[in-house]
Amino acid sequence: MFDQKHRVTRSDYELWRAGQDETAARIAADPDRLLFHAEPELGWLNDPNGLVQVGDTYHIYHQYDPFDAAHGGPVLWNHLTTKDFVTYENRGPALFPDSDLDSSGAYSGSAFMHDGKIHYFYTGNVKHFDRDDYDYVLTGRDQNQIHMVTENPDKLGEKHIAVGPVDYPDDISTHVRDPKILEHDGIYYMVLGARTKDDRGCVLVYTSHDLECWKYATRIELGEKFGFMWECPDLFELDGELILVCCPQGVPADGWRYQNPHQCVWFRIEADWEAPSFKIAGQGMPPMVDAGFDFYAPQSFADADGRRIMIGWAGCPDATAQNPTVERGWQCALTVPRVLNMRDGKLCQWPAREVEQLRKERVSVTAGETVGSPGRLFDAVVSCRGTKSIELEVREGVVVCFASGMLTLDMGDEGYGRDKRSVELDELYCLRVLSDATMLEVFVNDGEVALTSRTYSSAAPAMQLRAEGDASMEFYRLAR
Ligand code: FRU
Repeated sequence: MFDQKHRVTRSDYELWRAGQDETAARIAADPDRLLFHAEPELGWLNDPNGLVQVGDTYHIYHQYDPFDAAHGGPVLWNHLTTKDFVTYENRGPALFPDSDLDSSGAYSGSAFMHDGKIHYFYTGNVKHFDRDDYDYVLTGRDQNQIHMVTENPDKLGEKHIAVGPVDYPDDISTHVRDPKILEHDGIYYMVLGARTKDDRGCVLVYTSHDLECWKYATRIELGEKFGFMWECPDLFELDGELILVCCPQGVPADGWRYQNPHQCVWFRIEADWEAPSFKIAGQGMPPMVDAGFDFYAPQSFADADGRRIMIGWAGCPDATAQNPTVERGWQCALTVPRVLNMRDGKLCQWPAREVEQLRKERVSVTAGETVGSPGRLFDAVVSCRGTKSIELEVREGVVVCFASGMLTLDMGDEGYGRDKRSVELDELYCLRVLSDATMLEVFVNDGEVALTSRTYSSAAPAMQLRAEGDASMEFYRLAR
């Protein structure tokens, strides 16, 4: 019996997993499995967690409910490793909700490398079940920010509370989670996603000199309400700017913006490190990190090459969009790792260059020409500066097009609840469609805009580059 009312230990999991070999083998052989994206062996996956590079290996953990592909069960942290960002080794669950501190779920968190030791911080979710009138927002829940230190990314160390319910400001509800650490001038900053008692999202900031003792310092918020809870904050320095990425829940749609039930947006932050105080810079509508149907809870880290790499969950909580694989025992995946940069005041993302190692046969076409049998595994790069309109059928009935200043991803008749997503653009000069068996990641204008969506439509019989004006496309089939 696996639910949030019961803890799950490693031995509970192992006993259960021993009976799952046949299911796991059937899932691994399913034609809808992805070639170069991480996805769960069994069940359900959500947020990426604890991203860290140790030597030549990247460690990626993620929220994992192996017991139920529809996610009715508790979450663990599963552990993956990769050296090349196209093959992932599944090392199995590394963190279990097995203690009083996290009995209803080992929620999201991050890793921070310091002096050869890895410091993990995550949220232990504790729900109380001794009464039946808890609302689990103001009552009946504790969220503990837990610290573990280790040198071994397979064994995460003892659990200690770093920040707990007594440390939250009085106006904050029981929803406080998803710790992420930033170091600046020898001081550590922990950001936590939070919901106030009157349902406004914000980010709490705690500071520390030693990663052990944490003190509440300040909060990051907008003057006007923007969602009821801000999940998964990520505060990082990038190209001389301080950037906050976070996921406000329950922002109403506004024109083409914020069409998903929950959002992932970014803010430029003006910091006074002495105070400290962190103010959201500028006015206007917070830009979405990704405008597709399936993107949420990304996390970033700096790798040894100095790249800031972001990985997202290719999914969305409370989405009306479905994944038909749930009936076959699994759903959701992580996005391809994306390198972040600031360009002209915009947060740009581009697939890590490692992905290009899968590029095999190359076909070059110009406007009006066709690629025969494109299949589902490809990387297509279109150059189209000055082109008035453009259209590319990336699956049967699934089209990426640009016309009258709107870029649209139209998922056709078989989107499983996904219809269309559009983004307004001043111009379109380049478009990249990175396509895995059941995943599309579209990057616009060198990554100023991204759209991630799962797709279960068949391969298009042919892919014609339809354009009004000059355009050309480099099309690569992808394979191992
Ligand atoms: C975001 C989220 C986090 C939480 C985790 C639980 O998708 O709700 O806020 O820590 O998922 O799985």
